[in-house]
This record gives sequence, C-alpha cells and structure tokens, in this order.
Amino acid sequence: MDKLIIEGGVKLKGEVTVSGAKNAVLPILAATLLTDEPCLIKGVPNLRDTNSMLKILRSLGKFAEFDKGKVSIAAGKTSSYIAEYKLVSTMRASFCVLGPLLGKLKKAKVSLPGGCIIGVRPVDLHLKGMRALGAQISIDSGYVLAQATKLRGAYIYLGGVYGSSVLATDNVMMAAVLARGKTVIESAACEPEVVDLAEFLIKMGAKIKGHGTPVIEIEGVKYLQGAEHLIIPDRIEAGTLVLASLITGGDVLIKNVRYQHLGALIDKLQEAGANLERSDTALRVKGGRKLRSVNITTLPYPGFPTDMQAQMMSLMSVTPGISVITEKIYPDRFMHVAELNRMGAQIQREGPHAIVEGIKSLSGAPVMASDLRASAGLVLAGLAARGKTSVSRIYHLERGYEFIEKKLINLGAKVWREKE
Ligand code: EPZ
Repeated sequence: MDKLIIEGGVKLKGEVTVSGAKNAVLPILAATLLTDEPCLIKGVPNLRDTNSMLKILRSLGKFAEFDKGKVSIAAGKTSSYIAEYKLVSTMRASFCVLGPLLGKLKKAKVSLPGGCIIGVRPVDLHLKGMRALGAQISIDSGYVLAQATKLRGAYIYLGGVYGSSVLATDNVMMAAVLARGKTVIESAACEPEVVDLAEFLIKMGAKIKGHGTPVIEIEGVKYLQGAEHLIIPDRIEAGTLVLASLITGGDVLIKNVRYQHLGALIDKLQEAGANLERSDTALRVKGGRKLRSVNITTLPYPGFPTDMQAQMMSLMSVTPGISVITEKIYPDRFMHVAELNRMGAQIQREGPHAIVEGIKSLSGAPVMASDLRASAGLVLAGLAARGKTSVSRIYHLERGYEFIEKKLINLGAKVWREKE
C-alpha cells in the first residue's frame, strides 16, 4: 500500500484539465451489456473503478479494450448473467449491471454489494424498480436473483428516505429500455451522470424523455444498437480542483468544466467571497481573497453534492467563522472529521451535522484516508497545512481521481508517493 506525502504551503498555479466523470462512465459501461453490437466510449478516465467495471464486463462475456482514454467493446453476446461477489465487492457501482442483464437476458444474478464506510447503502429501491417491471426477485447466499419471462413497462415511484437514488434510477432505466410498453420513473435522480447515461441509451436507440428532471418516461424498444459516446467532465474532480486552488491561495485555470453542473458549489463559494472567473468550458480560480465561512447542506442534485462535503469541510476548517455542514444523503459520512482534527482543525460532529470553527492554519500530520472523497478532503488539507502530511491508504484516491498526483505536481504542489 502507498501513502501520499504532501509538503504543504505551496500556492497552486497553472492549468489543469478535468477528466471524464467516474460516475457517468461506470453505468455507461454497464449499459453496453444491452447490445451485441460494438460500442466506443471516449473520455474514459483511467481509474481503479473503471478497470473494475471492465473486469466485470469481461466476466460477463464482453471483449473490452481500454487504451488512451477509449474503451472499445467488440461485437458479441453477453454470455453470463452472474456478477460474482469477488468482483462486485470491490466496487458498489458494479450493482448497476443488474438492470442491463435483466433487460437483455431476462435473468441476472448479482452479488449484493453490502454497506461501506460512508453508510449502510441499501438497494431496496433498485429491487422495487425491477419488481415493478415484472421481475421475480429472490435473495440467496448474498446474491440477488432477478428473472422474468418478459419485462413490462410500469409506473415506478423511486423516492427513498434520503430522496432519489442515482444508481437505482440508472438500473431501472437500463432494465426498462427493452421492456414492453411505457415506464414512468417518478422521483428519478436528476444528476448529470444519469442524464449522460440516458443520452448514451438514446444513441443506442432507446426512447427516453425527461432525463434530468424527476420524471423520466421510457418507451420500451425491441432492440438496441451499438453506439459511440464521449463522457461528460467529472464535476466532482472539477470541484475538488477549485477548492485546491482556493485553499492554497493559488491561481488555477481549470479546463473541461461544465459550469452548469457546479451550480450549488459555485453559489456557496460566491457567498463565501471566492474569486471565480468563468469562460466557456473553463473556470479560473484565484485564491488570496479573504473568505467567509458558509453553511452547507448536502442534497440530491441540483443541491450541494455529498461527494464535495469532505473537501468543503477542509476549506471551511481554515476559513474564519463558524460553518455548519449538514449531511442529508449519508448521515454517517464524517470519517474525515477525526483526521482533520488531528491536523488541528476544530470540528465537532453532532449527528448529521459537523460544526466547523475556522482556524488560521492546519499543521501537517499523518492521517488515514477512509473513502474516496474523504481522501480528497485530506489531500486538500495537506496542501494548505504547515509542514508535512502523509495520507495513508491512498488507493481510495485512485478509485476516482485520474493522475491526481501528476495534476497537482504540474500545478506546483510538493507531493510524492511512499510505501507504507
Ligand atoms: C451515487 O451512489 C454515487 N456513485 C456516489 O458517489 C454518490 O455519493 C451518490 O450517488 C449520491 O450522490 C456512483 O454514481 C457510482 P444513491 P448511489 O443511491 O447511487 C439511499 C463517490 O464518491 N438509498 O443516490 O449508490 C442511500 O443509502 C460515490 O463517487 C436507499 O435508501 O447513491 C443514500 O442515503 C460515493 N435505497 C441515498 O439513497 C436504495 O435502494 C442516495 O444514494 C438506494 C439508495
């Protein structure tokens, strides 16, 4: 295992390009199971999670090659309906092969992903959707077995205790595209990654309307063809880089950004007094201005993303004033609090809230990454801290940030990797 060492206190400067979105590419790769024809996916980030999804596709009979940001899936049938535990357990998003397998083969056996460090993460909404489409569902030995003689379009309300679900919306949409008749998903997730998946399915011949709104309508078709698609830029990587520039008082031009996907973050940063200059597909972030603390509540899109909560907490921990951060998607996603406090931050957790008292500066310390975004938060804290920070279990970061060390080094950061 590797750890990342960061010598803090360098103002980041220069240009950086955002990679394709992890949370768009994973379900889009799964969607290629819906056709026997070749597909070409471009702008694919080279991440641990992308490679995990490719392994799953290969285990299901697909020939997939990944080279220089492009995944080519050869013509050929999906020959297995079983997604094994050893593959699914490495990444929760693998569960989104359930919908396409059921849609295409009318049968799927997919390992239950289980909980993870950010919460319990049930899959009841995914299963509710499959049942509504006519699938028989049983759970045996840690696997979900879903089967149907045929799938029929249905009205499905997909809202859960914490609002809409991204992957449940993806999964149900992928099962419904080949069902007979019309499906209406109400309380659908509106995230840009769901929209990107819908756009890819439409290129394959699916009939989908309303994606990006809480009501998605799908008219089932008999057959889907192969398609080519360019993945949208990763809004969470973009947001993380924005905060990296702000927290170090730097001056960074972030390229390949879809400004409209960052609305809630930008609004909060403007409230905090940040200096952001927008151009067509880029964002220039100039630090150095005194920021004010702001309160944040994470919500489904277009609300403030839970995947930016840890990084924003790092910024607030060195911004004067009190910031109340409320987590409404994963009320236990606060593993980074104790680690930030080891760096001198003043953060108190109270249930789904963290109360952050901004201090002048953090001090470098050994800290441990617990999940992908917590790791990103700790890296930002390390970039801003006095002295040296070592972030262990850095493999979490490799799940979602392509070439992150290289990108930070190009911006002048002093970071390097060491063996633990
Ligand atoms: C997606 O996970 C993302 N993953 C997560 O990104 C992200 O944090 C999350 O959406 C929320 O934005 C991918 O897209 C691969 P949800 P997902 O279903 O779809 C509850 C990252 O760091 N729920 O939208 O699994 C659930 O427990 C990751 O990149 C149910 O109750 O999340 C949560 O409270 C981590 N029943 C809420 O809904 C269900 O059946 C939203 O979760 C499903 C979810």
